[in-house]
Amino acid sequence: MSQFWKPGTEKPRILEDEEGGVVYLSHSLSSSSSSSSSSRYGYASIENQRQRLPVYKYRSAILYLVESHATSIIVGETGSGKTTQIPQYLKEAGWADGGRLIACTQPRRLAVQAVSSRVAEEMGVKLGEEVGYRIRFEDVTTPDVTRIKFLTDGVLLREMMDDPLLTKYSVIMVDEAHERSISTDMLLGLLKKIQRCRPELRLIISSATIEVKTMAAFFQPSKRRRRLEGDELGPKMDPAILSVEGRGFNVQIHYVEDPVSDYVRAAVSTVMLINDKEPAGDVLVFLTGEDDIDAAVKMLTEEAQNIKKSSSGLVILPLYSGLPRADQELVFSPTPRGKRKIVISTNIAETSLTLEGVVYVVDSGFSKQRFYNPISDLENLIVAPISKASARQRAGRAGRVRPGKCYRLYTEDYFAKEMSVEGIPEMQRSNLVSCVIQLKALGIDNILGFDWPASPSPEAMVRALEVLYSLGVLDDDAKLTSPVGFQIAEIPLEPMVSKMILSSNELACSEEIITIAAILSVQSIWASGRGAQKELDEAKLRFAAAEGDHVTFLNVYKGFLQSGKSSKWCYTNCVNYHAMKKAIEVRGQLRRIAQRLGIVLKSCERDMQVVRKAVTSGFFANACQLEAYSHGGMYKTIRGSQEVYIHPSSVLFRVNPKWIIYHSLVSTDRQYMRNVISIDPSWLIEAAPHFYKQRHNPVLH
Ligand code: CDP
Ligand code: MG
Repeated sequence: MSQFWKPGTEKPRILEDEEGGVVYLSHSLSSSSSSSSSSRYGYASIENQRQRLPVYKYRSAILYLVESHATSIIVGETGSGKTTQIPQYLKEAGWADGGRLIACTQPRRLAVQAVSSRVAEEMGVKLGEEVGYRIRFEDVTTPDVTRIKFLTDGVLLREMMDDPLLTKYSVIMVDEAHERSISTDMLLGLLKKIQRCRPELRLIISSATIEVKTMAAFFQPSKRRRRLEGDELGPKMDPAILSVEGRGFNVQIHYVEDPVSDYVRAAVSTVMLINDKEPAGDVLVFLTGEDDIDAAVKMLTEEAQNIKKSSSGLVILPLYSGLPRADQELVFSPTPRGKRKIVISTNIAETSLTLEGVVYVVDSGFSKQRFYNPISDLENLIVAPISKASARQRAGRAGRVRPGKCYRLYTEDYFAKEMSVEGIPEMQRSNLVSCVIQLKALGIDNILGFDWPASPSPEAMVRALEVLYSLGVLDDDAKLTSPVGFQIAEIPLEPMVSKMILSSNELACSEEIITIAAILSVQSIWASGRGAQKELDEAKLRFAAAEGDHVTFLNVYKGFLQSGKSSKWCYTNCVNYHAMKKAIEVRGQLRRIAQRLGIVLKSCERDMQVVRKAVTSGFFANACQLEAYSHGGMYKTIRGSQEVYIHPSSVLFRVNPKWIIYHSLVSTDRQYMRNVISIDPSWLIEAAPHFYKQRHNPVLH
């Protein structure tokens, strides 16, 4: 495979590093790319844009490294063209010939959709044909036609269950590796194994930060292995590292003098100040999630209306993962002349997506992060301080088109002294239940001995094994049970949700449980962003079930079907139409999976007790008992005696049944339980006798 190497182009200079054997490519490479296809695609202006991207200068070098090395690590600033260009270069060089596929993974679904549609547009093809994407519950590819496939790292992991060596792929680009998502780390460990069986498979690890030593060391073959492979022909096993020169402009950093108490309010007033004092240029604001983003959008819209004159040119747009497709497109479309775009985003815009035209960045200094405590066995999403590395990335977004400014809503002292240098890999701050079951399903039994890029804590591992054992997924030898373990692994949902679906078979309520599972897998079905809280609360009351949120979902679903899936009905009832449509789609897929697993589709009609029992059989580990009526109802988890409270968005808020099970936790000032259902405590021992051993829990008897 050397057709990419056009005679006459300069061969890149490669510097061998004596110590580690890692190959570095000289940065002073002269432009040596072979242009491929402008006339073929007939998209002159797009072709022009492609050639102006920093990676274009490195086209030949990248192809050379991929050809000659099993693993190439490519570092380049956000927006330099890694994600959108490299898969196209690979295809142009023939890596997708002979029916093979080029994969590019992303940690985030929204990024998968956004970049694949951009690449399809650049190639002048219809999305889903030559260029396609796959995320959970959505496969937009065509067999034998798709050549470049964007997918989440989690989906690629799932594909390994059917095709352990990923034989249809010639090159796999693991993108955004610096994010160190749990799926990325698992993928890296597994791909390293696959490469031993398939030396012809090429890996590209791409990252937005220069800190790639860990990655390089991870892919460094052992001395013994290198000796074994000594003279063989084929790619070098040492990883190659290439740094793509950025061309970012200077960004002036501003700090607040005193710490701010409310970062949403501070962000809003900073945006107004920028709009007042600074010349044209879009603003990108980093907040943490749907809730604070929607609040900021609302506050900004009001402020803009108050000062009509100067702010009439503001286009205020949210950006987060649950956003409907049409709203995503608005974010990426060019700002109308004379207007200023204000995008208020989660950290998805930190490196995964490039927004053109941003000159000002407002950085709250926070993001939502998953944290897991193996001692208390609580996992929740916490608004937590970002790292210095993230703060630098965020600031960098302001310097893409011209010199920009970044307004940090924290003090310089805080940045210098308090912020950690780098974030902690997600692997080390997550519950490992899903991770362990997936590895087991792939035949990796010695999980502690697995070659991880960052080792998870043994306590978290033990906890995961314990939960899986109680779920009936693992046997006494910690092997997957048959059929339950294999069936649960097969369903692309958290093991606890999958268990709930399996149990619904015996309890004869699979139709209801599948609806609940589908709704839990989408973002909130309530239209919370629209403003009026009172209106939303009233709407919820119309559907509220005494049993809790899960049963309430069934009522909403029924209403939606009866309305003929009407968007108007959703509007009147403060229900998120897009979320409902998505839930119905997911539901359809889950029904097919259930049927494949031999689950009989059956409705329990009005018998909600079986529905609650099925939820308990999956989520017994999240059971809580009411302790006190203080603060609107204080609960304690049965396992760890942790204080938790029902989230105000739940229909059981202030209703406070004695025994409940929650679906997930969010933590702000306290630990809040989201999506709660009331149970009978005797069901817990029925569902998980091992987990709720009598001597630990006298309360249950
Ligand atoms: O991956 P990396 O951050 O290095 O860059 P990229 O995502 O490949 O982006 C390269 C260029 O494509 C940038 O100029 C983006 O603005 C543009 N792009 C776009 O216009 N629309 C998208 N959906 C994705 C990228
Ligand atoms: Mg990218």
